[in-house]
Amino acid sequence: VIGTTGFVVGSQAGNNGLLRSKRPLPQRFTVPLPIPQAAKPTRVDGTTEYYTLVQRTADVEILPGVRTRIWGYDGTFPGPTFHLRHGRQAVVELRNELDAPTSMHLHGGVTPPESDGYPTDLVKPAATKEYTYPMRQRAATLWYHDHRMDYTAPQVWRGLAGLCLVSDAEEENLGLPTGRYDVPLLLTDRAFDEDGSFLYPALHHGPGVEKEYANGVLGDVMLVNGVPWPVHEVEQTRYRFRIVNGSNARRYDLALEPGGDLIQIGSDAGLLDRPRKHRKLTVSPGERFDVLVDFAGYPVGTEITLGSLVRFKVVRPGPESPPLPEKLAGLERLGDPVATRTFDFRTTMEHHGARMWTINGEMFDPAKSLATPQLGTVERWRLSSDFHHPVHLHLAHFQVVSRGGKGPAAQDVGWKDTVDVRPYEVVEVLARFDGYRGRYMMHCHNLEHEDMAMMANFFVG
Ligand code: C2O
Ligand code: CU
Ligand code: CU
Repeated sequence: VIGTTGFVVGSQAGNNGLLRSKRPLPQRFTVPLPIPQAAKPTRVDGTTEYYTLVQRTADVEILPGVRTRIWGYDGTFPGPTFHLRHGRQAVVELRNELDAPTSMHLHGGVTPPESDGYPTDLVKPAATKEYTYPMRQRAATLWYHDHRMDYTAPQVWRGLAGLCLVSDAEEENLGLPTGRYDVPLLLTDRAFDEDGSFLYPALHHGPGVEKEYANGVLGDVMLVNGVPWPVHEVEQTRYRFRIVNGSNARRYDLALEPGGDLIQIGSDAGLLDRPRKHRKLTVSPGERFDVLVDFAGYPVGTEITLGSLVRFKVVRPGPESPPLPEKLAGLERLGDPVATRTFDFRTTMEHHGARMWTINGEMFDPAKSLATPQLGTVERWRLSSDFHHPVHLHLAHFQVVSRGGKGPAAQDVGWKDTVDVRPYEVVEVLARFDGYRGRYMMHCHNLEHEDMAMMANFFVG
């Protein structure tokens, strides 16, 4: 069966949306961790870096010995990493050489509405669009990905995702690990057909299929920076890992095995006020955690695995770990909301017999808006759900103020743009609508839920 998206339906998919590969799974911790290429500007002037980016297919080796057809930015998965600087504008000319329309969104970006990658602002095949990123935001780990209406999940699954690292002077003065000690970890899961192509179910073919993937699509092969269960050689020193969950629907519980601390220094939208120690982090789709891990205390030869996804091998001495900064960034606490709004993320069974996902009872309608916050104001948004939904806001960064009637969880700290709302839980956030007026959106970042209409506009006025 060929689905609407041209993928072959995984007939043996079990419950909970898990797709099983039809090839033997690769051996774990043998493939070296690749670091995505840095995007290079084609031109630089007094204010701006100019880039070009081409969306195209490519046949790449993900599983050893077999080629997988991807859709990639510049034909790579992950796409090239953008290194942007606070105060320096970036202009990206995107050319679409795929045979499907696309829309590119900079997740976590404070971006003018016409460059935000709205789901219906399509770049048609053979067309080009210029995206402008003024970069007046703080240092942060952002990522970019496709956002085409109804097709975000399959198009991201095919490879349309990459990283964007924003730096600023405040971050630079902290002496955090840089260069090869600053390692991005883009986490995704995929499933593979016999011939090495990606498996993906057809989502729009009736209740049977819908029901199976109501929870989103999960693969059985874990990819980090686009390769399965990689291994990375490290020195006896401190590293910075930028953990990005780029998976459609999978959450990861990340801990170091056999043991160790994850020192969190940043959240979705930038650095924390001070480092926080965690034994475990749960990372939901769309979220980022910026962490330090110090390998100085481990003897050469030690192997440490993060969440059974990637293994670090301590292979040689390294430079002395610089002292851990006690303070990181100036973090203002948001207060005084001018309005309180409630958004209920809920499933409904009524659309042509298929399960659809709604916000305040509404399926996504590009012509409709559920809120009109005023530019520069802070609002309290109460997010509730009947299911597990990672809720993401475009434009506005927020701070979690309560979860389940209690204070925020340990990992809710800092400026965020995505928060995991668990079943029958209410999460309250204070969001600041800063930057630009215009049409933006919030949605569930389980990409299958997003494609099943769990999105809503808000207009910043
Ligand atoms: Cu990362 Cu609107 O999404
Ligand atoms: Cu976003
Ligand atoms: Cu959801």
